[in-house]
Amino acid sequence: MNDVALSSAERAAKLEGMGCKRKRVEDIRFVQGKGNYVDDLKLPGMLYGDFTRSSHGHARVKKIDTTKAAALPGVVAVITAETLKTVNLAWMPTLAGDVQMVLADGKVLYQNQEVAFVIAEDRYTAADAADLVEVEYEALPVNVDPFKAMTDGAPIIREDVKDKTDGAHGKRKHPNHIFSWAAGDKTATDAAFEKADVTIKTMIAYPRVHPCPLETCQCVASFDKIKGELTLWGTFQAPHVIRTVGSLISKIPEHKIHVIAPDIGGGFGNKVGAYPGYICAIVASIVTGRPVKWVEDRIENLSTTAFARDFYMDTEIACTKDGKVTALRCYTIADHGAFDACANATKWPAGLFSIITGSYDFPTAHVLVDGVYTNKAPGGVAYRCSFRVTEAAYCIERAMDVMAQKLGMDPAEFRMKNLIRREQFPYTSATGWQYDSGDYQTAMTKAMESVGYKQLREEQKAKRDAFKRGETRELMGIGVAFFTEIVGAGPSRACDILGIAMFDSAEIRIHPTGTGICRLGTKSQGQGHETTYAQIIATELGLPADNIAVEEGNTDTAPYGLGTYGSRSTPVSGAATAMACRKIKAKAQMIAAYMLEVHDDDLEWDVDRFRVKGAPERFKTMTELAWAAYHEVPPGMEPGLEAINYYDPPNFTYPFGAYICVIDVDVDTGVTNVRRFYALDDCGTRINPMIIEGQIHGGLTEAFGIAMGQEIHYDDDGNVTTASFMDYFLPTAVETPHWETDWTTTPSPHHPIGAKGVGESPNVGGVPCFSNAVNDAFAFLGSTHIQMPHDNWRTWTAAEKLGLHG
Ligand code: CDP
Repeated sequence: MNDVALSSAERAAKLEGMGCKRKRVEDIRFVQGKGNYVDDLKLPGMLYGDFTRSSHGHARVKKIDTTKAAALPGVVAVITAETLKTVNLAWMPTLAGDVQMVLADGKVLYQNQEVAFVIAEDRYTAADAADLVEVEYEALPVNVDPFKAMTDGAPIIREDVKDKTDGAHGKRKHPNHIFSWAAGDKTATDAAFEKADVTIKTMIAYPRVHPCPLETCQCVASFDKIKGELTLWGTFQAPHVIRTVGSLISKIPEHKIHVIAPDIGGGFGNKVGAYPGYICAIVASIVTGRPVKWVEDRIENLSTTAFARDFYMDTEIACTKDGKVTALRCYTIADHGAFDACANATKWPAGLFSIITGSYDFPTAHVLVDGVYTNKAPGGVAYRCSFRVTEAAYCIERAMDVMAQKLGMDPAEFRMKNLIRREQFPYTSATGWQYDSGDYQTAMTKAMESVGYKQLREEQKAKRDAFKRGETRELMGIGVAFFTEIVGAGPSRACDILGIAMFDSAEIRIHPTGTGICRLGTKSQGQGHETTYAQIIATELGLPADNIAVEEGNTDTAPYGLGTYGSRSTPVSGAATAMACRKIKAKAQMIAAYMLEVHDDDLEWDVDRFRVKGAPERFKTMTELAWAAYHEVPPGMEPGLEAINYYDPPNFTYPFGAYICVIDVDVDTGVTNVRRFYALDDCGTRINPMIIEGQIHGGLTEAFGIAMGQEIHYDDDGNVTTASFMDYFLPTAVETPHWETDWTTTPSPHHPIGAKGVGESPNVGGVPCFSNAVNDAFAFLGSTHIQMPHDNWRTWTAAEKLGLHG
């Protein structure tokens, strides 16, 4: 059957465009073990680097003796801070405007900090030699407690900045103080609290966790002395930023740096910033004249590369006695570790944390965040999160439950009463964010009906009665969370990284035969970009998705972009892709008009073709027009069919979701079984429902890990006690619950295809939902807030504290 006999709907289906559950094209290579990761790269003459790391949490470095290490056969060189000083690279700038030691310079500030870099003929020799570097330390007092960081007598972590009176965002209060940052209206908020009927105040802690990508951070640096050019392959979520920052640090001209991010095995924010390993590999390649590979191991990844969260949020809500919220106040201590290496847009030292009013119509709010230094690894990355929105969502969702409990209201009913109403959109929050679109009540209602919320509460009541009568030792918890995200950084007026405005880009070239390539400044780490960008193009241009190649991660070929994190690919590059398509389509329309000898305006678009209005049998398909673009363009028109778009979004997008979780807790063992987890997400126009479902499954699994067991923990001496998967909970298929997914669709009014981001939503919404479920299980016994993570031991302890063990 030829295309002429097909209906528009049939032709549209054949394109596998937006809305189609198109199978992931990248899986063809991934499931056959044919992915091409950094560690697959083997260059002739390649050397391997490994670090000697600090055994102390805080110590002065008296002496580093590299003699024995350098003498080991196979060792080519050993680099220390002194070596790096000769090229002015002993310290490097961080994304947050701070500086960070590349190798220990006089002091070590956290356990496992990089002290020396050994370069050898093979990885094993490098590791053996790293152990032979002799470091003499003088131990210093350690502080890993953010609450003690600004007290009198607290050990001063950063001697290099101790006398600085001004931080990046105002006056510093203490040598360990990094910044104070506030949002909202303090006076109005304080006044609202003065006259509130009911108030709650709870310290809500979001412990330090780690993104844990399966592939650790790694790179291969190859410096060509003849051309003066550096090629850097690496696990980079933002390759262009690495090139620009690399050029600024190394002084190698930017056009002589080629950054390539091949396949990446998960990033989750861990692979946004620059690490000492990259700098050392580059210097090592320049020094030795040979390519140098650096591959982090799991312990190094967990204990030294960018952590997430570590926010301590003292949160208050004011409310009328009939359950209408009137104000929110939050004071947060943010533990940034030894260097402020947060991946935040420059203006926002606490990220987008001021989205803390969440999905609720708070008339006023005030947020104050103090960032502090401690003897912990640096970072503060947006782990599957839009710059601290996860912390904000956890905070508000826990606080709403605490307030509902105080009011004696059902948590879902309390939320319903306070959700922003559909007619209020676009909605400006008390802290100044303009939410683009939402239909929260519909989503919440659908979620409650889908799980049978009323019946679940009845069942819970019966179980609680049975528990009180001593007939069962099991408690049932129902967790409700309604979250609003803020993704798609960003409008360049609001967001930049080290002065680079946060827009993104897409370049599309359609070849004469109607196939094409799209190159982008983003970089997939498993999100399926090769599949979904092609679907946008398929719908926009009427060409089969299978005919479009998608390429990311090569700074020589891709247009400049800020990379992939914070679910920004769809809101920003997805928009750039659609806009580039529209330029191509406009040109194709002119060619069609010329060929059909009609005016442009006499044509209409029909799935994959322009046809003459009123004469649908007269048309030119996009494939025909691609051929014509290279053969018979109208006189005076440039041949070719390609376009580039740099998209600076007018606003963020605000996806949202309603999640409900049911758990059963055995009070005698603390064992918690997740009976059901229902996740309804609204990410506006859905490009690929199957990929969205996969994103939700993955993010919920991470949320489950965080809420139910993860914490990067330090003992009082600064030892990381959770530096391997023996001690750090990473859920496998065995522990992971079954996920029920659902959706509503509320398009973004300002995005060309109405799409919002979705990748991080389940992490953002999942964590409070689990935590609310565990807390709900104990709420009827008078418990208000049990801190995460809710592992069996802590849950058992919570039961113990409530006197449940007799
Ligand atoms: O920036 P990142 O790719 O991590 O996040 P995203 O923009 O939320 O996209 C994650 C994946 O979900 C991509 O493959 C998107 O194309 C897909 N997606 C979708 O199919 N529909 C949406 N409305 C949003 C994302």
